[in-house]
Amino acid sequence: MASDDDATTLVQLTLAEKASLCLGSDMWHTAAVERLGIPSIALSDGPHGLRRMPDGGDHVGLSGSLPATCFPTASALGSSWDTALAGRVGTALAAEARAQDVAVVLGPGINIKRSPLCGRNFEYLSEDPMLSGRLAAALIEGVQAGGVGTSLKHFAANNQETDRLRVSAEIDERTLREIYLTGFEIAVTTARPWTLMCAYNRINGTHASQHEWLLTSILRNEWGFDGLVMSDWGAVHDRVAALAAGLDLEMPPNLGVSDVAIIDAVRSGHLDEAVLDTAVRRVLQLVRRATGGSAGRDEFDVDAHHALARDVARDCAVLLKNESDSLPLQLSSGQTLAVIGEFARTPRFQGAGSSQVNPTRVDNPLDELRAAAPDGVDVAFAAGFTLNGNADNDATLAEEAIALAARADNVVVFCGLPGSDESEGYDRVHMRLPANQTTLLPRLAAANPQLVVVLANGSAVQVADWEPHVAAILETWLSGQAAGGATADLLFGLANPNGRLAETMPLRLEDNSSYLNFPGEDGHVRYGEGIFVGYRGYDACDQQVSYPFGHGLSYTTFDYSDLEVSVAEHAAVSVSCTVTNTGPRRGKEVVQLYVGDLITSVARPRRELKTFAKVDLEPGASEVVHFSLAARDFSFWSTRRRDWHLESGAFEIAVGASSRDLRLRMQIELESAQVPLPLDEMSTLDEWLADSDAAAALRKALDDGGVGESILENEEMKRLIGNFPISSLAAFPGHGLNHEVVRAVIDQRRALER
Ligand code: BGC
Repeated sequence: MASDDDATTLVQLTLAEKASLCLGSDMWHTAAVERLGIPSIALSDGPHGLRRMPDGGDHVGLSGSLPATCFPTASALGSSWDTALAGRVGTALAAEARAQDVAVVLGPGINIKRSPLCGRNFEYLSEDPMLSGRLAAALIEGVQAGGVGTSLKHFAANNQETDRLRVSAEIDERTLREIYLTGFEIAVTTARPWTLMCAYNRINGTHASQHEWLLTSILRNEWGFDGLVMSDWGAVHDRVAALAAGLDLEMPPNLGVSDVAIIDAVRSGHLDEAVLDTAVRRVLQLVRRATGGSAGRDEFDVDAHHALARDVARDCAVLLKNESDSLPLQLSSGQTLAVIGEFARTPRFQGAGSSQVNPTRVDNPLDELRAAAPDGVDVAFAAGFTLNGNADNDATLAEEAIALAARADNVVVFCGLPGSDESEGYDRVHMRLPANQTTLLPRLAAANPQLVVVLANGSAVQVADWEPHVAAILETWLSGQAAGGATADLLFGLANPNGRLAETMPLRLEDNSSYLNFPGEDGHVRYGEGIFVGYRGYDACDQQVSYPFGHGLSYTTFDYSDLEVSVAEHAAVSVSCTVTNTGPRRGKEVVQLYVGDLITSVARPRRELKTFAKVDLEPGASEVVHFSLAARDFSFWSTRRRDWHLESGAFEIAVGASSRDLRLRMQIELESAQVPLPLDEMSTLDEWLADSDAAAALRKALDDGGVGESILENEEMKRLIGNFPISSLAAFPGHGLNHEVVRAVIDQRRALER
């Protein structure tokens, strides 16, 4: 999106001014060039609410940011599986950004939840790239429609906090493409974010900030990204190398170092000034986008945004378990509800670090429960445990809580991870709740079997050790400043839970496929599990899990019927099914479509989420849900072809309520054009024979060489030597495949590939 104005401005800029534009002016602003009327624009975290630092504010926000609405964090929003909802959050973020004169919101973050331990999982959407990409795209569209930019982050493979500024994520290209880049690709190609933020870490040895293959070949050349790439805060190590790789803006500015390095590199001829000009053009374009609208400053409606945060939080919570319809609570006048757990009066609703919002207000769950309870219901409270695990206090608090539970009609226990467990900057080391909570639960259950647990945590926790004792579990994640009100609505049935897990709840940490490799050592982390991340890994190993990806209950029930699938040319597949609300209440269902490749030449996940839809149905109502799939949805990244590859054969389309609750299935056959594999003298005999043209060429070369096809006729021999490269076979005498034949066949192959 080049503009004539930008071109005119560019020629008027001095070398020093150009260099200055490729660095911020301070922690949160781009540089201005007053002489030419180029203003500075403000950047601000973050993904689920603004963290606009007052001018002169510090980096980590110790001095406090301007009050803003704290919406549910990404792990909660991810569980909504609701693109329209993500769009509404985006619209509200834009309004707050305009009110606070923020040009670019630094989010969303869509790094894949490779391990439940990543300290920033609460800032990320899912373990699945398609779900992450679709939700991120909707949020970006919402923000940018309001005249404010976004910064999709952190590009790429920033999946842990341990050693995050140096660690090299060692990943093969197929894994990178299928798991760690796909979400970015979806968001970039559908929502066109104004900016993208590179990651801190290295990828296969190269800093993300200097990774030309990522920042230019893939991002711009393949995906057509036309925005600006900025660094994560402090991610630049060699400003000139980063510029050459495609990193336009360094944040915060390494003033007196990076600008000088750019100027010197241009003067000495080490950096082509055209490269600098390209980056400057992108900065000018960003400034123009940010200042071009009519937006201007306006106020945002604090109450309306708080109400929106409550609506959103309601649609993010996941009802994991609900034995004997324990929820919604059915209490009447004269009865007692025991509310137990320090989190009920000291709520945990966001994580720590750069995304930490200074909320405009915070709902207190206990107060909200009291307000929502039917008249005459006594809502009594006991803390039950301390947040910092003080053994003496915990013993007394537990006794008080047990006594309260024993006399109550229903018990709701607010459990979760202490704030110090989840933060930017470090990872967790286990996924258990604190012992003062897990030991209390069975004791409470012995006093009162009607135990409901409300969870507040930003990433998957182990539930297997305590969940047999409880009747119901409502996972609320870190659901923002209105989480308390939303929880009260859900517990009393004023709202019907409709979130679905965007990350698996494994039985044990050890079952997670990254377990042996996370978080690596000596500056390296091997992504040894490859594409088998999250449910792809649990499914491949037939592992039982506590709650599978996509799971979530409702106060109503849904029936699936009438699956129809039609296949058109180029693997364009249309799918439809009918979903009916068969229960007593209005409710929302997330209809999930998974694809599995039934016969495949490479290792593939048993099934992968390819699309989904959320439907809102009155009792008895039905809706026909339509989906479209394309060739890419059936393809894998072929390392040998260096391209997406659709393999002909049978695929399963499965539609259902979770990755392990598939209600409708159908098998289809897809035909794809055979793309010739690159073959050379190091390709094995089997590889040559697997390709019909190559096999024919090999037979012809043997015939032409007058040596016959003896080697190809002996099946037993072929099994034995099938994995020999043909050049190695040529060194063995007596079977006819000699060096002349190899040369001839390679020549024929080259001719075919041209
Ligand atoms: C974080 C980014 C954040 C930036 C600015 C970095 O430490 O990784 O996500 O946007 O700081 O606060």
